[in-house]
Order: sequence, then structure tokens, then C-alpha cells
Amino acid sequence: MNAPQTLSKADQLTEVHRALQRRLVEHISNGRTTDMADAPLRVSSQIYTDPARLDAERKELFLKLPLVAGLSNDIPHVGDTMLFDGAGPSIIIIRDQHGKANAFLNLCTHRGTQLIKECGKHETISCPFHGWTFDPQGQLIGQPGSEAFSGIERDTLGLIHIPCTELHGIIFVKVQPGEQNIDVEVKEFLGDFGHQLSLLDFARYLPGKSGMLQSNGNWKYVAETFGEGYHFAALHPTSLGQTHYNNVAAYQSFGRHHQISFAPKTCKELANKPESEWFPLDSVMYSIFPNTQILFGCPRPGALFIQLFRIYPLGVSGTEVHLTLYASEEIFASAGREFVEGAYDLAAGIVEGDDLAAAGTAQRVLKYAPANYQVTYGRNEIALQHFHRNLANAIRMPI
Ligand code: FES
Ligand SMILES: [Fe+2]
Repeated sequence: MNAPQTLSKADQLTEVHRALQRRLVEHISNGRTTDMADAPLRVSSQIYTDPARLDAERKELFLKLPLVAGLSNDIPHVGDTMLFDGAGPSIIIIRDQHGKANAFLNLCTHRGTQLIKECGKHETISCPFHGWTFDPQGQLIGQPGSEAFSGIERDTLGLIHIPCTELHGIIFVKVQPGEQNIDVEVKEFLGDFGHQLSLLDFARYLPGKSGMLQSNGNWKYVAETFGEGYHFAALHPTSLGQTHYNNVAAYQSFGRHHQISFAPKTCKELANKPESEWFPLDSVMYSIFPNTQILFGCPRPGALFIQLFRIYPLGVSGTEVHLTLYASEEIFASAGREFVEGAYDLAAGIVEGDDLAAAGTAQRVLKYAPANYQVTYGRNEIALQHFHRNLANAIRMPI
């Protein structure tokens, strides 16, 4: 008797996406329905404007939860280094000679100077002030005039470790120094969503272009723009409003995380075709609580991209979005870097020009909303309801 065949990751991914696609096709066939929450949700607009709430979010979310710093392929080789500073402290992440990604405060143990300013290749990390030098495991290996520091064990002068781990090709950090077992914590934090992420097979994607997008809006308002397709027609009339149905989405939550897919207009013709003739799903958004959105998309057959958005508050009314676009090796080889960079520019232009601008405009008026004003999340804005319930729970404040 043959053992049951295990599906490859690619086949499992196709199945997951096919299930979402079936729901989208069904919604279109039903006259454009969408996945819905049980009821609308009304929430005080002060969640966007109250500095005490932002303090709680910084403390309970950005300083305590495992956060996505990037993908493993951002630092594939020994000595490759990235900076992670959106969540507060400036952090160095560097790959050591054993292939492990280590994270340290970007802070010299001599007198506290910032050690590096840019990502790149560093065989060692050298302080620009007095030249102390550290290896990729954080050990102090060079100390000019070391006799001046006699009596202090050199071992105690290594860089300050930050919990860091890699899972499914994603680098996670917790930005406060500590001894937590982050490997176990990240697995628990992701739960079943970890399997969904593993199917994306991030090892297949290489970084194409990175940048920083700005908004005058609240970070949550910015995050919400990734969670509903109800705004496509009005806010994106010449881009997503053309290519996608407005307000038709298939949604699934996994603990605090979720995935959501919006119906491309090409879905309409699938209803009358056998599934064997269906094209792969156009795009699926993977949302890792609280501030990471990963858009997996094939905007044209074979052109697979990963867009990694990490959203950080600069203040109540200010948000920074770090975006990196990754493409498969095949795309780099067949279409070239210019094509990949063009895809980044297109995505960044839409997000910054439309969504981030809308969040800024909203913030301008929400600041002056009457004290009893409530924003309303419709039944169709199911991912937003999920997001706000989980946020309130995490910061232990009423929704
Ligand atoms: S502050 Fe870094 S070597 Fe002095
Ligand atoms: Fe949008």
C-alpha cells in the first residue's frame, strides 16, 4: 500500500489560495456579497487621538510583542547587517559565522554612542567614537588602550543582546533586552498562522527595493487601509478600483492574525469555468498582529512579489511605514531589477499617495471631533473589527 503523498508547500499554498478564490467567486456569483462580521462596531474616535492610548500601545505592543524585523533573505550571508529602529530603540541585526541572526542594541558599551548608521556588510562592528570593536556575536574583540579599563572583565563589555529568532524565513525581535525564550514565544504567538506563513516559502524571494513611507495619520488608521477593500472604488479609482471589485473580500482569522483577499474583476469569468482552468489568485494579504502586513501577489502570471509593510507610530498623528518589495529569483533573472524596482515604485505610490494620505486627512479632522463621536466599522470591515478587539485586549483598555 502506498503511503499518502504529502503535498508540497507550493501545492498547499495553491490549495489555501484556491479556497479563498472559491469564496470570492461565490461572492461575485451572489451579486457581490462579501465576508461579514455579525454586527457593525462603533468605537470612540479617541482611540486615534488619545496620547495615553498611544503610550499603552507602545508599552504593550511595540515594546513587548515579537515584531517582524524583516525576512531572512535581507541578511543572507555572514556579516550582513540590518538596522531595525521603527519600534523605538535602534537595533542591529547581524548574521554570524554560524548562520545565526543576532540582535543587539545599537549602543556602544563604552560610552553609549550609536555604533552603525546603515545596513551593509560588517565583518566586525566598530564604534566611530573610540574604536571599540565587536564581533557578530557581540563580543568585544578590540579595545584600544585597553589598560585603561583594567579591572573590568572584557566579557562583561559585549554588546547588549536583544531577543531575536527566525521562523519560516521571517526575522522576529522583541525590542527590550531580556532572557525570554523567543523561539518558543514566536511559535506560540503565531499559532496556526505560522503554517500559513510557512507556505509562502520566503526563502524563494530576494529583496528588490526598500523605502520609508510617511503619513500624518495614526498608525492604526494606516494599518486599517490594508484590511478592507471597501475603499477601492472611491479612494483608488484609477488603480485598485479598476482591477478589483469594490467591497468583495474573503477573510479568515488565525488568533490575533488574519488573511484577507480582495476579488479581482477577472473572478467574474471563473464562475463558468472548471477550476482546472482558473488562474492563481491575484493577491492575498497576510496580517501579523499588530503592525505587519505581507502582501503576496502575482500581478501578472508568474510575476510573484512579496511586499512587506511594517507600520510604526511616530506620535499620535504620525506614522512611518517601512516597505520592502521582494521578488523571486526567476523574476530577477527574466524581467530584471528595473522591473522589480518599478513594481516597488508602483506599490509605494498607491499606498503613500492614496491610503497614507487618507489617514493623514482623517487625523486632521478626528483631532477636533466632538468627545462623543464614534467611528463605525461596518459588518463588511470584519478585519478591522478583529484588529481593534485584539488591540483593546492587548493593551487592556476598553474598545
Ligand atoms: S563610545 Fe564607543 S568606543 Fe567609546
Ligand atoms: Fe488602499
